[in-house]
Amino acid sequence: MAIMNRILPILALSSLVSASAVQQPLQKIPEAQALINTKPLITSDAIQDLITSKNLMKRAEELYKIAELSLDEYNHPTRVIGSPGHLGTVDYIYSTIAELGDYYEISNQTFPAVMGNIFEYRLVLGNHVPNSASAMSLTPPTKNKEPVFGPLVLVANDGCDESDYPSNITGSIAFIRRGTCAFGDKSANAGKAGAIAAVVYNNMKGSLSGTLGEPSKYHIATFGISDQDAQPYIRELQAGKIINSSAYIDSIVTKTGTTNIIAQTKGGDQENCVMLGGHSDSVAEGPGINDDGTGTMTLLEVATQLVNFKVNNCVRFAWWAGEEEGLLGSDYYVSQLSEKENMKIRLFMDYDMLASPNFAYQVYDARDNVNPVGSEELRDLYTAYYEKHELNYTYIAFDGRSDYDAFIKNGIPGGGIATGAEGIKTKEEVEMFGGTAGQWYDPCYHQLCDDISNLNFEAWVVNTKLVAHSVATYAESFKGFPKRTSIMASAQQERSLYHGPQLVM
Ligand SMILES: *[C@@H]1O[C@H](CO)[C@@H](O)[C@H](O)[C@H]1NC(C)=O
Ligand SMILES: *[C@@H]1O[C@H](CO)[C@@H](O)[C@H](O)[C@H]1NC(C)=O
Ligand SMILES: *[C@@H]1O[C@H](CO)[C@@H](O)[C@H](O)[C@H]1NC(C)=O
Ligand SMILES: *[C@@H]1O[C@H](CO)[C@@H](O)[C@H](O)[C@H]1NC(C)=O
Ligand SMILES: [Zn+2]
Repeated sequence: MAIMNRILPILALSSLVSASAVQQPLQKIPEAQALINTKPLITSDAIQDLITSKNLMKRAEELYKIAELSLDEYNHPTRVIGSPGHLGTVDYIYSTIAELGDYYEISNQTFPAVMGNIFEYRLVLGNHVPNSASAMSLTPPTKNKEPVFGPLVLVANDGCDESDYPSNITGSIAFIRRGTCAFGDKSANAGKAGAIAAVVYNNMKGSLSGTLGEPSKYHIATFGISDQDAQPYIRELQAGKIINSSAYIDSIVTKTGTTNIIAQTKGGDQENCVMLGGHSDSVAEGPGINDDGTGTMTLLEVATQLVNFKVNNCVRFAWWAGEEEGLLGSDYYVSQLSEKENMKIRLFMDYDMLASPNFAYQVYDARDNVNPVGSEELRDLYTAYYEKHELNYTYIAFDGRSDYDAFIKNGIPGGGIATGAEGIKTKEEVEMFGGTAGQWYDPCYHQLCDDISNLNFEAWVVNTKLVAHSVATYAESFKGFPKRTSIMASAQQERSLYHGPQLVM
């Protein structure tokens, strides 16, 4: 159940509820306002001056201890949704903001989420085990969690249409090319046609791992394999050969509830908000101190320092849950906004992974001709900051891998910065940023070693100051920033390959 009404302005509520019920907040608000009005108006330099490495370090130590709350259940620290480490993180965020007093209106938004766990899998096609085979995330198990047997049957086209499935697919293992529609759609189509398992093969170089996304009752056990492994089978099937095969997946997909935390300044124009977010959850494999502990803690630190100032426009912070399962929290949040509430969000800034050890200063390459107008102005705010400080930066794809996705798909300008995940640092980037060529930006990405020692504090402080700068700039004024027009995204007709950290198609 969502409790989002708490961020509606008091005025809107007062027309809906009886006078006595609003007396409490009406008495409290002017008092809080009076106090806030005595504070100096926010400036970028003033809030940046309050950002220190020491405060960030203290938060990182606290967050790691919170991740250790999961030790009993998981045998290692983690903050994955549903774990004690994630519940502890949500408590920590809530209580940190609550301790700041009257400056913010805090709300919890609880929503349904799915969690998956894959225990074991095996795929045998003919007499061979394709090396690249992997079970897709959120796949259901094979029947009774036991191996199933049947011939491999080639599906026509990309398997996005029910008519692509031949009638002898019933009782068979569907062999489907990647492309055009999501893995989840292919799995459901194969399930509807009566297949007992599905194998999606890559249409480009390399192995294929992804997620089925939102569960469907039609989903069947689904694997991904590389283009290279698939080629010999495709040729044999086209020549009419029968390839008897077996598939086995032991997995669970469970429903749970989890919570977004939203904090909005009581001060500032409530009709024009600058919004920013980071995700509060980690993957199950580790404590997620960089991903996205850094975004979570940066937002907390900026929210804490913002209290020293008066703002002209409202500032809304969000800590999303379920990002790692496919942007569940931010998707849910945006889906629950009325058109009126959507239009109050002038822009959304995403902060995910700000201190990768082998970092690059990365700016999402958002553009006004494909993204909601204003996205490019935000992009230019980040690059201007790096230029002013004589720091190098690179543009990275704005391709749906983090929580900005629902915003830009619903007409809200968006953007953000990051320092890199599993991408490989080039020689040129080593000249630009230092570090090690040929290695991941974050060698501990989605692993147990994503702990305090995995943070680059130099990058983290620079980026936290930049986050503070972005908040201060728009909290002071939207002068020169495009007005919101519509809740429809301007373009981006093509579906993105990602919706969250994993491939969806
Ligand atoms: C919101 O969540 C926090 C953190 O888990 C909890 O302490 C608080 O009681 C919750 N508030 C409401 C109104 O549910
Ligand atoms: C299934 O039917 C197709 C023709 O629609 C045929 O090419 C293929 O060999 C059949 N496969 C099996 C296992 O019977
Ligand atoms: C495939 O399995 C069927 C049914 O078990 C069997 O009749 C057939 O001979 C097998 N074909 C091959 C090529 O192994
Ligand atoms: C920026 O990159 C250039 C090489 O492209 C390098 O010479 C310069 O030192 C870099 N600046 C910083 C601050 O690292
Ligand atoms: Zn992340």
